[in-house]
Parts: sequence; C-alpha cells; structure tokens
Amino acid sequence: MDTAKKITEKVTWVGKVDWELDLFHGHEFSTHRGSSYNSYLVRDEKTVLIDTVWSPYDDEFVTNLKKVIDLKEIDYIIVNHGEIDHSGALPALMREIPGTPIYCTNNGKRSLQGHFHHDWNIVTVKTGDTLDIGESQLIFVEAPMLHWPDTMFTYMTGENILFSNDAFGQHYATESLYNDLVDPCELQAEALKYYANILTPFSPLVKKKINELLAMELPINLIATSHGVIWKEDPLQIVQQYLKWADNYQENQITIVYDTMWNATRRMAEAIAVGITQEDPNVRVKVYNAAVHDTNDIVTEIFKSKAVLAGSSTVNNRYLSAMAGLLEMVKGMKFKNKKAAAFGSYGWSGEAVKLLTADLEEAGFEVVNEGKRTLWVPSEDELEACQEFGRQFVRDIS
Ligand code: FEO
Repeated sequence: MDTAKKITEKVTWVGKVDWELDLFHGHEFSTHRGSSYNSYLVRDEKTVLIDTVWSPYDDEFVTNLKKVIDLKEIDYIIVNHGEIDHSGALPALMREIPGTPIYCTNNGKRSLQGHFHHDWNIVTVKTGDTLDIGESQLIFVEAPMLHWPDTMFTYMTGENILFSNDAFGQHYATESLYNDLVDPCELQAEALKYYANILTPFSPLVKKKINELLAMELPINLIATSHGVIWKEDPLQIVQQYLKWADNYQENQITIVYDTMWNATRRMAEAIAVGITQEDPNVRVKVYNAAVHDTNDIVTEIFKSKAVLAGSSTVNNRYLSAMAGLLEMVKGMKFKNKKAAAFGSYGWSGEAVKLLTADLEEAGFEVVNEGKRTLWVPSEDELEACQEFGRQFVRDIS
C-alpha cells in the first residue's frame, strides 16, 4: 500500500498517521484524536528527507519510503528536532544508507548522539546556513526551545514551504493533509491544547522567534508541521494565533478545579461556581475534578482562564494527590497574569487551603485572598457562604 501523498511538484508527505495514539510522552500527554508524524521527501536535483517518524513505526516507515524512492537516491537527511517521535526511524533508515549526511543544529547533534549512540555523518548548521538542492534552496533557522534546545525550522525556496517541526503542530490524526479539509473546531482545539501544554513555558521565546521569522519576509505558501495538518489555507493564521497565545493569553473564563473525598469539596466548588455567575453572568465558568478529568485538558482550560480556583479536602495534613499532580504540571507551565484562590473542606486539621495557596503562589498565580475553608460537610448556610466566596472572588479579580 502506497501511503505517500504529493504536496507540491517537488515535495511528498511520507509520514505516519497514528489513529490509535491516546497517550504521548509516555503517559504524560493525552491525545484524544491521535496524532501524525509528518516526514517529507523533497526531490529537486538533490533528494532530501526531512524528519522521520516515531520509533514503533520505523520498519513500516522505511518499507513505505522504499516504495517511493530508492533509498540510495537520498542525498541529505534533515533532522529539525531529535525527539524520538521524529528521529525514531533514523536507526532503521541509517542501516540502509549509513553514510548519508544528517543536517541538524549543534544541539541536534548532541541529542541524536545521546539518543542513538551511532557514529553517523552529522553536519551541523546555524541560522542562515543554506543547502543548495537544485532550483530550490533550503534555509535553516535555529528555533531553540520551540520546544527543545535542538529545534530548527527548514525553509524551502521556490516552493515557499516552512518545515516547522513541532511548532504550529497538533496531535491530530487525519487522512486529509490540509487545514481547510478538517473540522475547524477540532483543529483549533488541538492546536490550542498543543500550545498550552507544550509551548507555554517558552512563550517569550516563541514571540521573539516568530517576530524574527516574520522580519525575514519569506513568502510562505505552506507551513508543513511535524504533527497534524499542513497549514495551506491562510497559513499564517496559525502564526498569528501563536503570537496571541504567547502574549499571556486569556479569555473571560474562570476555571474551578478540585479533588474531593466525600463530596464536601465538590459541593463547595459547585456553590462557588453559582456565586461567580451571580456576580458576573458574562464570565464562562468551568468546573473539573482533577482526579476524574484529563490533566492536559484541565491545563488547557487553565491556559484559557483569567483566574483559577483550586480546591481540595485535607487528608493526612496535606491536600489530595490528584491536585498535587496537576499543580506540579501547572508550575512547569509558568503561566503569567492569572489570579487564583483556594478552597476545601476539612474535618479536624484543615491544612489543604493554606498549602494550595502556597503552591498557587509558587506556580506564579496572583492569589487574591486567603481562601475558603468549610468544616465537615457544608450546611445550607455554608453553601451560601461559598456562593458569597464566589461573588467576592469575582470582585477580587476585577
Ligand atoms: Fe514532536 Fe518534540 O517532538
């Protein structure tokens, strides 16, 4: 079966669509709509392969590639990024064409050697270095921390394609290769989730790199990412989205996230949600149980929020572990310009709210009050007090 897809006269997609992927980065990243590992074969006077696919699909990748081209005709391999979802098929490929030069950044060389421990023929490149391949030229642009130190973009003149690797990508399996052929709501949701969970910590660098790229005034017909769709219709729309997302993005949303043992903290969360909308009917409120809902989806909702309320009952003088796992991830996101407060029920010692407050501060949130504690199961009066806490929270963040 030939799975290759011609994109332009000179460029063919030779990647892998992974429909069944539901967890990525081990078990750390949920991918509800699968993913793809996009690899591109460029044929001019010289033949170039840009990136490969994830290791489990290495043999399948090489077998399929052989249906498209005699591997010995490949003159150069470009590795835009060394993470194994893109470099994982290199060992299988290099067994077939061992001397073929691999172009990557200096950090890319380190990451390839660190991953595979092979003495491959690696050529390192810097921003502005070029590779003449015939009518077209490949121009390399280092993009460190978008999202690894080794990352680079490769731009192809003539076809005007930016091969951006992870940047502008989405974990989104699709047989239709282009952005205008998929469900736009799904595409938007996956692109945003990808940015929120992977690129948020590097937002200042994202802004800087995009502005540097735009200043180069390269005509861009296609942005060929390494995951999900190729941006073909208005390709710069995702670049503009990234500039917005990188600029302390927020919507008129408040996210309440909690964990609960016997539902007292859940009832507090729901009462607070009611209070928030009583005070501000226009604000969007979302409520999640951290032990039930997907962590990456919650992180995405926090990314979209102007404020967050974190709740937990107290157990063993601490707060509950699902909230601890979530907040550990949130700390790494380095969110900016978001407000927060804590809440939770307790039976005797009641440390959770104080500990949550401290961790919210450590995560970079502006904590606007000392939080709301409820002893045992909330009474009707206590639920009214939680509603008032929600109303006051809206006033505190205004
Ligand atoms: Fe898609 Fe950073 O690998």
